[in-house]
Amino acid sequence: MRLPYCLYLLLFTYCSVGSLCTYAQKDLMPVPREFQSRDQRLAITATFRVSVTGHPDRRLYAEASRFIRRLSERTGIFLDGQGYVDSQDTARTAALLISVQRPGKLALYEDESYHLEVGAGQVRLNAVTDIGVIRGLETLLQLVSADNTGYYFPGLSVSDGPRFGWRGLLLDVALHFMPVDEIKRTLDGMAAVKMNVLHLHACNDQGFRVESKVFPRLQEIASDGLYYTQQDIREIIRYAGQRGIRVVPEFVVPAHTTAILTAYPELASVKRNYTLQRYFGVFDPVLDPTNKKVYVFLDKLFTEMAALFPDRYFHIGGDENTGKDWEKTPSIRAFMKARGMKTFMDLQTYFNRRIQPILRKNGKIMMGWDEILQPGVPKDIVIQSWRGKAAFYQSVKQGYRAILSNGYYIDLIQPASFHYINDPVPDSVLLTAEEIKNILGGEATMWSELVNPETVDSRIWPRTAAIAERLWSPSSVKDTDDMYRRLDIVSLQLDALGLRHESNKPVLLRRLAGSWDTRPLEVLTDVLEPLKIYERNQGDTMYTVFSPLTKLADVAVPDQRTPRIFNRQVKDWISHPSPDPGQKIIQQLTIWKDNDTAFRKLLARSPVLQEAAPLSASLSALAAAGIEAMQYIREHKKADNEWLLRQLAVAAHAREQSGRCELQVVDSIQQLITLAGNN
Ligand code: ACM
Repeated sequence: MRLPYCLYLLLFTYCSVGSLCTYAQKDLMPVPREFQSRDQRLAITATFRVSVTGHPDRRLYAEASRFIRRLSERTGIFLDGQGYVDSQDTARTAALLISVQRPGKLALYEDESYHLEVGAGQVRLNAVTDIGVIRGLETLLQLVSADNTGYYFPGLSVSDGPRFGWRGLLLDVALHFMPVDEIKRTLDGMAAVKMNVLHLHACNDQGFRVESKVFPRLQEIASDGLYYTQQDIREIIRYAGQRGIRVVPEFVVPAHTTAILTAYPELASVKRNYTLQRYFGVFDPVLDPTNKKVYVFLDKLFTEMAALFPDRYFHIGGDENTGKDWEKTPSIRAFMKARGMKTFMDLQTYFNRRIQPILRKNGKIMMGWDEILQPGVPKDIVIQSWRGKAAFYQSVKQGYRAILSNGYYIDLIQPASFHYINDPVPDSVLLTAEEIKNILGGEATMWSELVNPETVDSRIWPRTAAIAERLWSPSSVKDTDDMYRRLDIVSLQLDALGLRHESNKPVLLRRLAGSWDTRPLEVLTDVLEPLKIYERNQGDTMYTVFSPLTKLADVAVPDQRTPRIFNRQVKDWISHPSPDPGQKIIQQLTIWKDNDTAFRKLLARSPVLQEAAPLSASLSALAAAGIEAMQYIREHKKADNEWLLRQLAVAAHAREQSGRCELQVVDSIQQLITLAGNN
């Protein structure tokens, strides 16, 4: 269609000034509370300088300096004129003028708000605390835009601050140990999407990961040599604090304590030969709550750890006590009977009540999983809900402060959209303003049964950015399609920041393929996702801490882009059949159909790929069926019943898992097949 020239000019002007200028701002993740665009821009050039006024501290200078390096790396512009921002840098004419009132504290509800103005001559970033400035600098980096004139910041005004004060990520370093560098990378990613709590799950049945000087057997006997020295922990806390992130430790008791009992078996409820657990799950070993020595031990250990981790909050776990070792021990049963305790949860509450004073005298607020919420527990504890929303709302209604993790279990391989719509305060639940105040926020949980340092990033990122947005942005921000659009952009930025969710993929592919040519394997793995929820670690494949995490299910990632795009194309095409997208669908199907031949050549050299063979064959057969279906539909012909039944059988077969993975395009191709049969 030809447009009249003046209309063309109007559209062009709108696109080049209006929407181009606002484009980057619409890519922000998390979406800021308020923003307005301006038809201006600030070009980023080699003369770009940063000044700081007000009451900055060393943290802010370091972060402002890091901002310059990141801006330089992003744009390739030599910003060498300013190496390190310091107290000399106060010129009010600098391209970026930061103004801060005071250093921020690493504490819940510290002021993280900021105001950002990008005009033609200057960027101004104002905040009460330097933590607010740090959040604003991340926004500014996400705003970097480009066109054929170069890099620039689009003109705008942003007023921003978090919806929830607690926006966390649990990193489980117990089930699989994560080196300090991995944790630092994770902290960089968290800061990039404005998260502010790293919850370090520091011990479990498989290992105790923090050096204790008081009880050195913990790391010597119960860590396989994989633990953080106290100096490592101080470095992690420093690095996190530099980014305005708190570190909350979790030392889980009384269950999940096989590692502690391996080092100190005299603390157990049942005498047995304790060794580190190599499998994952829920086990019976548990501390003996009737043994005075247990409280002496925990007093010393928690006092030591309370000093090492300066945060006000200290997590004692409390989850998944089977109670079996308590039930089978006559002296423990007698103890319960003498005190009128009916269930083992009564006994666990007794235990918690003895732990809390230990934490309190160390200046700590006790946190635990929702199992610790039992009648009579003191009101100043914080509940972390994982089993369901009912327990969460029950906690806040009873006056307990709580954070939500149910629905944010990123280890379960669910799509970002699932986590994104999981609002801690949904419209469907009636809560008073007072009750809502008890909701501190939420935490994504990266349990590490099935990840190691090589693969963990691909489970955390980019989906955690969607959770970060849920916890930072106003509740009205909930367009899932737009979230995915921005998630793809943020994912690239996280990759550039050093996260390995993308960059490790070729390494994994090359190892699996045993070849430089990984294309056929990549085509296949791009449409695979690992089995979801707890399915992967079941049946004939029970993983241990020593199992290889270098296989098909480790290359496959959650929420794959390729099937997401393809499934959307099919959905759109079915509702509005038009030739062009139809051609794209056929092109994609043809790639999948033909891929199996190339894949088989790889397989001949790489037996580890055997488990991928059924999936490759299924994808090829399914794609062939899809191509035939497209032909029927496009030619307005109806496929006969025999064809339909045969192809539906192909689709049913393609649903079978192999290598703990499933194809992600079966539903949409089956829809095409069905449509061809009903045409
Ligand atoms: C948990 O997932 N067991 C807290």
